[in-house]
Amino acid sequence: MTIIIAVDGPAASGKGTLARRLARHFNFAHLDSGVLYRLTALSVLEAGGNPAIEADAMRGARGIDLSRAGDPAIRTDLVGMAASKVSAIPAVRAALHDFQTGFLAHPPGDGPGAVMDGRDIGTVIAPHATAKLFIDAAPEVRARRRWLELKGLGIEKDLETLLGEIQARDHADRTRAISPLAKAPDADLLDTSNLDIDAAFAAALALVEPKVSGALKDRHRG
Ligand code: C5P
Repeated sequence: MTIIIAVDGPAASGKGTLARRLARHFNFAHLDSGVLYRLTALSVLEAGGNPAIEADAMRGARGIDLSRAGDPAIRTDLVGMAASKVSAIPAVRAALHDFQTGFLAHPPGDGPGAVMDGRDIGTVIAPHATAKLFIDAAPEVRARRRWLELKGLGIEKDLETLLGEIQARDHADRTRAISPLAKAPDADLLDTSNLDIDAAFAAALALVEPKVSGALKDRHRG
């Protein structure tokens, strides 16, 4: 059984950075599940389709090109909003479900563990994860982080517009009928509003380390 760390949270909460750092720390594989929804959305948009229409979205889900996971084109807010639309369609979630559970069953590198971040990892994809984190931060803080990130890329965007987009995406993700963004009852909540990334990582590690160490010991014993 793979040792799994599930990291969920709303847009721009820092969950992706924390998940990557946790994976590096434990030498576990990492999957940002948002990439799958973003690649689906990109595929729909590039084909001139409508991300809210099931037939278009399913064509996109079948046509995702994982070699483009690092493509900056998937990181735009337009693709983020389209990803939120395709992700509310049950058939799309079903199509991407197996990829995610397959990754967890056989993480690349054949190491003992995997870290996966998204919206429904602790609730739906890996309800029996070894450790679960729910990363949150005030919407204003998340919008400001995103604003700074874009500024670093040379992109000027109005802070209020960003805040509006983040809140709209959160609302859609939290209220959709299928696999809504939610904290699993057994997940540890980490609010990073007043933490920089190093402090947030230290807090995340303090929460998951005992669980992961226990699971690693059990593996050695078993
Ligand atoms: O995490 P990221 O912002 O890249 O995700 C883009 C969108 O993909 C989210 O707003 C959400 O609608 C969807 N998503 C999801 N379930 C996941 C990961 C992402 O519904 N596990």
